[in-house]
Amino acid sequence: NIKAGDKVLVQGTGGVSIFAIQIASALGAEVIVTSSSDEKLEKAKELGASKVINYKTHPDWEKEVQKLTNGKGVEHIVEVVGGSSIAKSIEALAFQVHIYVVGFLENMEAEVNLFSLLAKQARIQGINVGHHRAFED
Ligand SMILES: NC(=O)c1ccc[n+]([C@@H]2O[C@H](COP(=O)([O-])OP(=O)(O)OC[C@H]3O[C@@H](n4cnc5c(N)ncnc54)[C@H](OP(=O)(O)O)[C@@H]3O)[C@@H](O)[C@H]2O)c1
Repeated sequence: NIKAGDKVLVQGTGGVSIFAIQIASALGAEVIVTSSSDEKLEKAKELGASKVINYKTHPDWEKEVQKLTNGKGVEHIVEVVGGSSIAKSIEALAFQVHIYVVGFLENMEAEVNLFSLLAKQARIQGINVGHHRAFED
């Protein structure tokens, strides 16, 4: 349900994330990408990312996301890191929006601060690979 003008956070520059950058930017969303590499972040911009954060030089990347969105947060997060990243993702969110859990590169277990979750009225949704018709839709 991404619409033009929505802000989408994509984590890292793996296969899932590169696809997410391309489809979200094609839908007119403003895409923020994190990576450990400035070189990869430049490539991400070529593929449609509008803003980038190096998560090695900015371990508190959720605060950078809030700065880049003037304190509003993002409407969608494509979560591939999992583990300790989930708590940070909640902090990077706008109100009443989604984290989509696609993978867990760091850890399958995550500790979530339930106060942050309810303060943001956030939703965390698991997502699996879909089929061709869904992609065409
Ligand atoms: N739900 C599904 O149907 C589905 C489908 C496909 C994949 N998956 C899962 O989705 C996840 C991603 O898959 P993928 O194929 O895109 O993986 P991948 O190509 O191996 O992605 C690896 C990249 O993720 C980034 N990364 C790793 N650890 C990170 C961390 N701590 N913080 C931020 N970024 C980090 C790094 O980006 P940089 O090098 O830029 O730092 C790394 O290059 C995996 O867990 C996979 O099992 C799920």
